[in-house]
Amino acid sequence: MKSILIGLTAILLGTATAGAQTFPSGDAAHGKDLFLNNGCYACHGTTGTGGGFVGPRIAHDGLPPEAMLQQIRNPAAQMPPYTEKVLPNKDAYDIIAYLQSLSAGPTPTAANIPILNH
Ligand code: HEC
Repeated sequence: MKSILIGLTAILLGTATAGAQTFPSGDAAHGKDLFLNNGCYACHGTTGTGGGFVGPRIAHDGLPPEAMLQQIRNPAAQMPPYTEKVLPNKDAYDIIAYLQSLSAGPTPTAANIPILNH
């Protein structure tokens, strides 16, 4: 009985520790280079505000980092998947750190693009 209890305690403690794990932090500056070099910008805009080809705004859209990683690996719909082979976890963490560092900024519309307002 005692050993069962000890076993159970160990399992419970193990679960608690795993649950407390935080998302790995990345290097946002390197993430920016990766964002521009992996074509993310083509769909999401160079600063993640959307308005590019097809991608939605991803700068400060409140998406948790785990969900960003999930989207990068197994996209919901139209986005191409980035496997670990083309984008290793370490690089994915850097891109996510970059996305989290972006300020929301204005969403581009015809009204706030100066050249369209002569
Ligand atoms: C070919 C266009 C395209 C490219 C390239 C692309 N995306 Fe996307 N992305 C999308 C679309 C479209 C969606 C909306 C969901 C879907 O269709 O899968 C999306 C959704 C996302 C989301 C989730 C946004 C949300 O709030 O749900 C994240 C995060 C994201 N992309 C990050 C990236 C990163 C990082 C890269 C580069 C490694 C990248 N995307 C490259 C088109 C693209």
